[in-house]
Amino acid sequence: MSLTFTPFDLGPVRLKNRLVMAPMQQYRGAPDGSATAYHPLHYGRCAEGGIGLIVVESTAVASNGRLFKDDIGLYADRHVAPLRAVTDAVHAHGVPVFVQLSHGGRKSHPPPGERLLAPSALAFDGDYGVPASMTPQDIAAAVQDFADAARRAVAAGFDGLELHAAHGYLIHQFLSPLSNRRDDAYGGCGAGRARFAREVAEAVRAAVGPGFPLSLRVSASDYVESGLTPALVTEAVEALQPCGIVAVHVSSGGLLPVPPAHSRPGYQLDWARQIREACGLPVIAVGGLHRRSLIESALADGQADLIAIGRPILERPDFMTDKLASVAFDG
Ligand SMILES: Cc1cc2nc3c(=O)[nH]c(=O)nc-3n(C[C@H](O)[C@H](O)[C@H](O)COP(=O)(O)O)c2cc1C
Repeated sequence: MSLTFTPFDLGPVRLKNRLVMAPMQQYRGAPDGSATAYHPLHYGRCAEGGIGLIVVESTAVASNGRLFKDDIGLYADRHVAPLRAVTDAVHAHGVPVFVQLSHGGRKSHPPPGERLLAPSALAFDGDYGVPASMTPQDIAAAVQDFADAARRAVAAGFDGLELHAAHGYLIHQFLSPLSNRRDDAYGGCGAGRARFAREVAEAVRAAVGPGFPLSLRVSASDYVESGLTPALVTEAVEALQPCGIVAVHVSSGGLLPVPPAHSRPGYQLDWARQIREACGLPVIAVGGLHRRSLIESALADGQADLIAIGRPILERPDFMTDKLASVAFDG
């Protein structure tokens, strides 16, 4: 029997199959951070094929946390209505939809007059500026930004939230010992480095109420010695468990300008398995998981509970339609 096409519950949200559309930025936001007419068309088209869950792209919680000038955001009330059009378009196909909330920290492009912020004053590379090390007031403001964006996400009709703690963005910058050199309560040991993530999750939970699904996207490796490992990530996830995390979405990299050590199909699967076993939470695996046989074996072997698919859905939004499924997965 195919496990891929069996249902799965993320808290109160039922997925009709184990396939998730990975969050993928479209670079089509309006200059003021609003979704445009493109977004409901795009996400509606992607939902048509019958995927189990859509995760809408990285969505900024603060204007100084936008990665690019055409990112979408949820940092103002005006952003709610255009995103309501997206959730309506996806729901019209009976598919649940989460949104990924992010702050780019030192990898942001703040508008003129706003500061580039990070846990420590360490630039990502020569092209990004040197960020200001966040004061306790900056940290409290960023936590509040996540909570306010979460409240707006509920108002926009999303069924759940994914906190972006991967790919070298602000939460990841706090988690990794390579980018967090703080000697206050937000740095030092693993618990200190996880404190910002925990405060964000607590504030988001308070904003959305009990039972609303929260998932966490993590980078299981920084691809260099003394960076994040699955064990360190597990420690951080455990610190957030009291906030009711329903799934961990296991990606990798992005903290430093180094390429991944591998990118063969399923190269992140073993990290997904390790984190799944250590945390006991449902895990979403991602990364070159495009062949049906690989997806089936990852599920059957307990490496993951759900499989996220990225680029093939952009290339062919109809990737998932039943009549294409066998061709697309095995092609
Ligand atoms: C165009 C594009 C945009 C992406 N944007 C995001 C994003 O907004 N947030 C995120 O966490 N990952 C993002 N990713 C990474 C994908 O979610 C996914 O992890 C990656 O593409 C690997 O999956 P795949 O091999 O199935 O494509 C993006 C990838 C692509 C190709």
